[in-house]
Amino acid sequence: MTSLARADALPPELSATPKPGVVTVETKSGAFNFASDPGETLLYAGLRSGLTLPHECATGTCGTCRARVMSGEVEICWDAAPGAAKLKRDKGDVLMCQARALGDCVLRVPSEVAQKPVRHQIPAHRTGIVENVRRLTPDVTRFEVALSEPMDFDAGQFVVVEAPGLEGARAYSMVNYGPGADRIELVVKRKPGGGFGDWLFDGGAAEGARIKLFGPLGRATFHPEENRNLLMIAGGSGIAGMMSILARAAAHDYFRDRKGYVFFGVRTLADGFYLEQFARSLRDGHGNLEVTLAISNEDVGSDARHPDHPDVKLATGFVHEVAGQAMVGRYEDVMAYVAGPPPMVDGALRTLIAQGGLSPSSIRYDKFG
Ligand SMILES: Cc1cc2nc3c(=O)[nH]c(=O)nc-3n(C[C@H](O)[C@H](O)[C@H](O)COP(=O)(O)OP(=O)(O)OC[C@H]3O[C@@H](n4cnc5c(N)ncnc54)[C@H](O)[C@@H]3O)c2cc1C
Ligand code: FES
Repeated sequence: MTSLARADALPPELSATPKPGVVTVETKSGAFNFASDPGETLLYAGLRSGLTLPHECATGTCGTCRARVMSGEVEICWDAAPGAAKLKRDKGDVLMCQARALGDCVLRVPSEVAQKPVRHQIPAHRTGIVENVRRLTPDVTRFEVALSEPMDFDAGQFVVVEAPGLEGARAYSMVNYGPGADRIELVVKRKPGGGFGDWLFDGGAAEGARIKLFGPLGRATFHPEENRNLLMIAGGSGIAGMMSILARAAAHDYFRDRKGYVFFGVRTLADGFYLEQFARSLRDGHGNLEVTLAISNEDVGSDARHPDHPDVKLATGFVHEVAGQAMVGRYEDVMAYVAGPPPMVDGALRTLIAQGGLSPSSIRYDKFG
């Protein structure tokens, strides 16, 4: 039997109780089984077991984790998830990141899936304590999470976070980098009316709070051994993962031999942050690293420099346009990283492919929405 239940549609006395279940996924590369804990989404259970199930945002927005329920019963956590808009619900299609097994079930996933051969960096559930919450600009806050278990992750990866009393999970990219990290730094740009932003920015509830995390996740990762020049284009808090990449590059003295170009888009000069960290990276960059703050809502003139950090260049315009102009003739052997709001990411991808001639395999990106 195939049946879907919406978690928020049933009165509590009739609501189905999540049970541990064995999930079978039929994929283009064969069938796999994994155990799913009560209350755990199908995606997290599968990833935790080492399967490379398709996903991007892991939080219900992108639609990449589509699967069809062939038998068994699942519960839908967030019926209004934007990523579910195009699902064929009458055929049993669900988002694996927004569905939980209510017992044994069989899913069909229309892609190649593999079992990771080693346990290294397989995502896992953790908890953590929020510490050192600090405002960087009026609408950007950074904080640290002291993790219950150390976590290995690649520079450029993210975790999904559940805050107490808040429905659903949000994805945030690590700012720091370090093997076996027992603490991560995250940075959040406040979205008007956003649940996590309100929780973090208002009333001091966040400092000292215990949160749930799942990760690491994400494929927009930097690996020094690939030995490419690095182009990073970030809008707002999209700079988080780029800071992690810069931290990893610094540990390898990467810019001794390779070029790096960072374009960081904000609305006004006062919206810029992490400038001291950029100044330090530039000092250690052997003249091979450039950082440009692209300002969209103010005219900073031409050939301008940041008043407090003169090694940081300033340019007027949207970050993908600024990057497109500055990178003409400099795309050779480049691996590009892009992160930020979806329209900015889409604009950057068009620039990189149409103007830069980069192939999709030379571009790694995260859309924050
Ligand atoms: C890969 C990735 C990395 C990201 N990294 C960062 C980062 O480093 N910094 C940053 O500021 N932002 C980042 N984002 C965006 C971030 O995840 C949030 O979307 C953003 O902070 C707004 O969250 P909010 O709670 O304030 O807004 P809200 O509008 O309340 O929620 C936004 C998101 O929360 C989830 N959500 C909301 N309601 C529900 C519900 N009822 N049930 C289930 N889920 C729900 C959905 O994913 C939704 O899109 C990233 C996004 C992605 C996909
Ligand atoms: S991974 Fe599930 S909707 Fe994005």
